[in-house]
Amino acid sequence: MILALETSCDDTCAAVVTAAGEVRSNVVASQGLLHERYGGVVPEIASRRHLELVDAVTSDALERADVRLEEVERVAVTRGPGLIGALLVGVSSAKALAAARGLPLVPVDHLHGHAVASTLEPDPIEPPYICLVASGGHSFIARVDEPSSYRVLGQTLDDAAGEAFDKGARLLDLGYPGGPAIDRLAHEGDPSAFDFPRSLPGGGDAGARLDFSFSGVKTSLLYRIRELGPEEAERRRPHLAASYQRAIVDALAARTEQALDREGLDRLALGGGVAANSELRRRAEELSATRGVALWAPELALCTDNAAMIAAAARFLEPLPYPEYLGLDASARPAVPATTAAA
Ligand code: KG4
Ligand code: ZN
Repeated sequence: MILALETSCDDTCAAVVTAAGEVRSNVVASQGLLHERYGGVVPEIASRRHLELVDAVTSDALERADVRLEEVERVAVTRGPGLIGALLVGVSSAKALAAARGLPLVPVDHLHGHAVASTLEPDPIEPPYICLVASGGHSFIARVDEPSSYRVLGQTLDDAAGEAFDKGARLLDLGYPGGPAIDRLAHEGDPSAFDFPRSLPGGGDAGARLDFSFSGVKTSLLYRIRELGPEEAERRRPHLAASYQRAIVDALAARTEQALDREGLDRLALGGGVAANSELRRRAEELSATRGVALWAPELALCTDNAAMIAAAARFLEPLPYPEYLGLDASARPAVPATTAAA
């Protein structure tokens, strides 16, 4: 029985997952509304709110799983990357929970969690596979050969895909978070009405990295809105949203296809909040139908930030025994992916 905590950004998350990958509970206390008025996450506010919520969320996760603290055998926690103050709340709580009972602790890399979320029950993906993870804080394509690690084949060089959605939505006056708003409005617009750039740095030659860049498309939207002027931009907003979304999804889909080709794999997992995007899902399904690629698009609760995915990764990592983890620190920057084999 693994109890996992995740507090890397603005959601306070706790989950109980079994060693076999059954999700017994997966609780998320979203701080979205708290940050909405600022148009983005305010780190200091996020840390304070985590502190207020973490105990209640942990109790709730245990209660929903119908598991007592005494039955927990391993504690897992996101060590990074993320907002340092936010991470510290999770790491400190997890250390306290584990140390009080002399339990082992598993520090987990947040991105590793996203990469292996699809290995959870009820329909676990089997490696090797390609995963496309696109969220508000990160966007990358990785190859997973063993669930204990992942290899990044490409990533964004500037904004994350979700960030591009959020910034685009702000330019279009659609509020925060912007992804769902653009997604909704895009249904009413023509995706070929405006021609926004798809930036795929480095091309796609054999051996080249499969990176993305989303800052150009955002700037291009800004210029287009200025050219149109406020009234015309407002009138053509559905077309702007649809064309902007198409440009982002085109880049994600093109890189994913290159990754599957180059690596010779036929299994694809989606992750991150942008996996909720209806056009991205449709494109992934098309890819799956035309190329015979098996697709895992787990329920949204496992795609957005959550603690079940942290437990998922912790199943395959060597835990730190008590009291070795007492000096463990959170890390704002990405950790080198762990390669230790299953415990
Ligand atoms: O994984 P996630 O919950 O956490 C963060 O990285 O913070 O992802 C949130 C991101 C936001 O940028 C949001 O705008 C985006 O996912 N998102 C979407 C959609 N739903 C959420 N982007 C595009 N289309 C959507 N339907
Ligand atoms: Zn994330």
